This record gives sequence, structure tokens and C-alpha cells, in this order.
Amino acid sequence: MSWTNSRNAELKERAAKVIPGGMYGHESTALLPADFPQFFRRADGTRLWDADDNEYIDYMCAYGPNLLGYRHAAVDAAARAQMELGDTLTGPSEIMVTLAEVLVGMLGHAEWAMFCKNGTDATSMATVVARAHTGKRKILVGRGVYHGAAPWCSPGPAGILSDDRAHIAYYRDQDPQSLADAMKEHAGDVAAVFATPFRHETFRDQAQPDATFAREARRLCDAEGAMLVLDEVRTSFRLSRDHAWAALGVAPDLSSCGKVIGNGQPISALVGGEHLRKAAGSVFVTGSFWFSAVPMAAAIATLKIVRESDYLERITRTGTLLREGLARQAADHGFALRQTGPVQMPQILFEDDPEMRLGYFWTAAAVRRGIYLHPYHNMFINAALSEADVAATLEATDGAFAALKAQDLKHLPLERPAVRERLERAAALSA
Ligand SMILES: Cc1ncc(COP(=O)(O)O)c(C=O)c1O
Repeated sequence: MSWTNSRNAELKERAAKVIPGGMYGHESTALLPADFPQFFRRADGTRLWDADDNEYIDYMCAYGPNLLGYRHAAVDAAARAQMELGDTLTGPSEIMVTLAEVLVGMLGHAEWAMFCKNGTDATSMATVVARAHTGKRKILVGRGVYHGAAPWCSPGPAGILSDDRAHIAYYRDQDPQSLADAMKEHAGDVAAVFATPFRHETFRDQAQPDATFAREARRLCDAEGAMLVLDEVRTSFRLSRDHAWAALGVAPDLSSCGKVIGNGQPISALVGGEHLRKAAGSVFVTGSFWFSAVPMAAAIATLKIVRESDYLERITRTGTLLREGLARQAADHGFALRQTGPVQMPQILFEDDPEMRLGYFWTAAAVRRGIYLHPYHNMFINAALSEADVAATLEATDGAFAALKAQDLKHLPLERPAVRERLERAAALSA
């Protein structure tokens, strides 16, 4: 069946009338190549079908939550069984205790867990717990790093007051000297330092976890009495069965876990060490749906698979095959890719592509060939992706490279002029 997008276009038109901007957040396709679908119908394993029923091998995994494959049989059976008992009740089900025990058993630095719905809930809760514990005000955050969509951390300026960020200070992401400088500037008043396990902002090359930065962040926090918060919302269980800095020998005081915990069911968590138990118990935090039992049942089933299966080795293997295959293929077609970050969370940018014209054309060509790739956001590998799927992906991307090569590369259109401004902002942040 040939690729069409008429239903998607129809839905976008309807959405424009009843949803502000037609769509919001990163679910808006306004910055993506024009043909990218915005609406999807269904998914299974590693496959995704859009509103027009075009089938894709999906490398975005719902922007992270799909770790084991969509509609995973064991996870969905656990969720269905809990649904038969009830979901959002007058209080939590006993499985909340079980789930907290499971997470505490898996994460080396964790002695307690609190559950919520989204990553932003968990990162925001971390600021409150750290301030309650330390009695200090400042939260140090990597410049340009995404920690969610609340006023203290949202990337968009609209509707945000400078007062909302009065006590948020910034350092150059993953730069120990810049963190030391920020720490010095706010000495005596730093409640927490936020870090991500590695650099993973949009529009930029990613990095690998950096032991020097991790150790220095720990040392500076200890010297200042500040809490080190590792924001693992994007990375949870994709790099490790423990927290992502366990392999570096650096333990955070708090970490936010999100996205994958329930393999797509809405649940996130804040976990922390013994010394923060009292502060965590003292803050008032809650939400009408934070105690729903179905996502907790899904999380218990997901984490059992995380502990007992070779999912991590498999996503590392398929991620490696994809990276190596694309590098070879790009070279064969006369292009050079910058493939950065851990292979389980690939970021694929083109060399000599200052305005991402090549990347936009190539990812759009891949989408039309049934491979959902992203031009500027890190992608995600899920455990349902097989080696045969990687081979099918490479067959399609070969066609996408050939289509790109057939273009007049000097005159490729800049489909989304707003990308220029994003790239300038990304360059300024890394300067
Ligand atoms: C590192 C990081 N922190 C926090 C968040 C916010 O998570 P959520 O969108 O679930 O609120 C995200 C979301 O992408 C993230 O990547």
C-alpha cells in the first residue's frame, strides 16, 4: 500500500479549530518535516500505525515510555488483571507498597519511593524535598536541559515570570568548572544540583555518561551540603538496571524516574536516600490519579522483566547494529553522520548540515518508507526491535539516502525556518 497522509491532514485541520495551536508540546509536528504524521491509531511491539494506517518501525517509542514493546503481553495482562479489581480508588492498593519495595530493591541509592504521573511531577517534587531537607533556596540546573514543563523549568518563555525562576541558577551542562563556579556564586544557599546522566538535549550531539563530571558534581554537593538530583526521566532502565551513574560509582541523593516504569502506563517516581526520608515525608504532594493501581501493576510487571530478562543486552545489540549499519550506508552514499549518545538512545545528525536540510529530507524520506526517525531529538530503542527489524530499517534508509543523493543538495528547501532559531539557541548553550 502506498504512503498517504490525507486522514492526518484532515485531523490536523479539525484540531486547529479546537486545540490551541492545533497541538501542544512535543506532540506538535509544527517543527518536524511537513509530511510527518501527528496522529496515530495503534501500535504493537516495535510497530506503529498512523491515522492513515501507514505502518512504521518506530524509533521514538512514544518519546521514551515504550521499553519492552507496545502492548507487551505480560505487562498488559498485569494491567488488565488490576483493572478487573479497580484502578483509581479512595486510597492506594497494596501493590503500591510492593512497587516501592521493588524500586528500592533495584536502585542502589534508594531507600524510599513516591509515585506520581509524569516526569515533571517527579522533578518538581525533587526541588521541594531538597529545599525541605536543606532549608536552602537555590536549584542549580544545566543550561538548556529539559526537566519538564512546570514554570520553574519549562523551556518556553510564554506565561512564565522571572519570579517563577527567582531561585533557579544555571551552569553549563556536564561542565564541572561551570558547576563549581555556580556553586561558589550561590554558596550557602544551594538546595540541589540537577544533572542528567549524559547530555541529551534536542538539536545537539549527545554525549556518553561522564565519570569526571559525575564525581565532581557529587564532591561539590557534599562540600556544600546540597542534594544531587539525577534526572533519569528519559534514561531510566535504558542504560542500566540500576540508576545510570551506578557504573560510574557515583550515587545521587534523589533521582526522578519516568517514562518507562510502566512500559507506557502513566506512572513516574521520585526515589531517594535514607537521609531524605524525613523531608520527603514532610512535604505535601499529591494528585487525584497518582495512586491509580493499574499503572502500578504494569510497573511491577515491567520491572520484573527488567530484572529477569536480557532486554538491556538486546537493545544494546540492536542499537549497535543500527548505528554500524547506518554509518556504513551513509559512507556508501557519500554522506557522513554524527551518531552520538548511547546506542539505546541514538541521536542521528548529518555532518555539514548547518540548517538540518539533509536531516529533514532524509528522515522524511525514511518516514515515507515506513521508518519513523526523528530529525533532531534523541530516539529510543525498544526490546521488541529484532535484528530483522534493523535489517528492514536499513533497507528503507538505503532508499532514503539514495533519494537524498538524487536531490540538488545545494538547494534543498528549509522546510521549517524556525529550526534556524532553535539551532542558534543550541549553539549558544554549548558555547
Ligand atoms: C530528562 C527529562 N526530565 C523530565 C521530563 C519531563 O517528563 P514528562 O514529560 O513526563 O513530564 C522529560 C521529558 O521528556 C525529560 O526528558
